Amino acid sequence: MRDAESDVADVMFALFGTPSKPEWPTRLLPNTELVNIESLRRAAGNVSSEKDGTHLGLFREHCVVCHGISGHGGGPASQFQVPYPRDFRAGVFKWKLTDRSEKPTREDLRNLLVKGIPGTGMPSFSLLASEDLDALVDYVIYLAVRGEVERRLLVLSVAEMGYGGDKLAPEGRFTYKSDEAPDQVIVDTVQRVVQQWVSSKDKENQGDHTSSYPEGLDSDEAVERGRKWFHGKTANCVGCHGADGDGGIETLDYDDWTKEYTTKLGISPEDQVALQPFRDLGAHKPRPILPRKLRGGTLRGGNDPTRLFHLINQGIAGTPMPGVEVVEEGDGRGLTEDQIWDLVSFLRAINSSD
Ligand code: HEC
Ligand code: HEC
Repeated sequence: MRDAESDVADVMFALFGTPSKPEWPTRLLPNTELVNIESLRRAAGNVSSEKDGTHLGLFREHCVVCHGISGHGGGPASQFQVPYPRDFRAGVFKWKLTDRSEKPTREDLRNLLVKGIPGTGMPSFSLLASEDLDALVDYVIYLAVRGEVERRLLVLSVAEMGYGGDKLAPEGRFTYKSDEAPDQVIVDTVQRVVQQWVSSKDKENQGDHTSSYPEGLDSDEAVERGRKWFHGKTANCVGCHGADGDGGIETLDYDDWTKEYTTKLGISPEDQVALQPFRDLGAHKPRPILPRKLRGGTLRGGNDPTRLFHLINQGIAGTPMPGVEVVEEGDGRGLTEDQIWDLVSFLRAINSSD
C-alpha cells in the first residue's frame, strides 16, 4: 500500500494543496462554481486578523479541536464525545433537507453552523460574522471533496490499478504534473465527486419548505393518529424507539463511519485486537449507535415540522434510521403524506412532554 499512499498523496497535493494552504482544481472543473478560493484561504491556516478586521484561520480557531485538521473527525477533543464529531471525508451528512444519498446544500450547512446540533458536542456559531460562516461552509465542502477524492483514488489504486500487487508498471501509476494532461481516472474522480455537490447546490431555494403545513398539524386528533402509525406494522418506529418513543430498545448496530473499518471488512467492532491497527491510525473506538429516546429531551435535528417530515421520509444518512416511502394509499409498503404529517404531530407532542 505504501506506493499507492505516496502516489495518491502527490496527486492530492497537486490538486488540492494542503488543508493549511488549500488549492482548488479549477482546471479540471470547467464552468463549475462550487467554492470560492479566497474563502478557502481565509478559513484555512493559522489564526490571525488583518488590519481591516478580517479573521483568518477560522477552521483552526473554531473547529479543529473536534474535527481535526483534515476534517477526519479525530481532533483532540473528539474522543470523549457521543456521538463522535463528523469525519467529513466520507462525504456523508446527516442533517439536511436533501435526499438521504445526496450532499447537503450550502443552506443546510450554514443552518447547521448557526444552530449547532443540540444535544451533541457540535456548538452553535451564530455569533460569527456572515462572511465567516460562508467561508467555513466553503471550507467544509473543500475538506469533504478532498477527503472523498482521496479515498476513492486509494480504493481504485488497489481494486483496479494493481497497486499492492507485483505487476505494477510505471505507466500504470497515478501521475499528476501541473504542465501535463492529468490521467483520465483522476479527472473523472474529481468531476464525479464535485458534481454531486453541484447538483445539491442547484436545489437551493427550490420551493419554500415552510409554507405547506397541513391544517390540523399538532391537533389532538393528529397526535392520536400519529401514535397509531408510530406503533403500527408499516413504519414500526416502536421496534427501535420503544413504546411512545421512550427508548430503551437495545439494538446492537453501528453507524456507517464505524462500519467502514469494522463489519465491512469482516471485523467485529468488539474485536479489540483486530481493530488495533486501525486505532493506531486514529480510528475511534467503536460505539454502538442507539435509536434515540424521542419523548422529552432534545431532538438533534430540531422539531421543525418540515424537517421532521423530511427526516421520517428519508431516514438519517450514515445511520440505521430508515426512511419511509410516501405512497398514494396506505398499503403496507409506506405511509401517505397525511400519515407522515400525523407522525410529525405525534413526535412534536411526545418531544415536548416529559
Ligand atoms: C466541541 C466539538 C465540536 C466543535 C468545536 C465543532 N463541531 Fe462540528 N460536530 C461535532 C459533533 C459531535 C458532530 C456530530 C453530530 C451528529 O452526529 O449528529 C458534528 C457534526 C458536524 C457536521 C456534520 C453535520 C451533518 O449533517 O452530518 C458539520 C458540517 C460540522 N460539524 C461542522 C463544524 C464546523 C464548520 C465547526 C467549526 C465552525 C465545527 N463543526 C465545530 C462537534 C464539534
Ligand atoms: C431500525 C431502527 C429504527 C427504526 C425502525 C426507526 N428509527 Fe428513528 N432512529 C434510529 C436511530 C439509530 C436513530 C439515531 C440516529 C443518530 O443518532 O444520528 C434514529 C433517530 C431518529 C430521530 C432523530 C432524533 C433527533 O435527535 O433529531 C427521529 C425523529 C426518529 N428516529 C423518528 C423515527 C420514526 C418516526 C420512525 C418510524 C417512522 C423511526 N424513527 C424508525 C433507528 C430507527
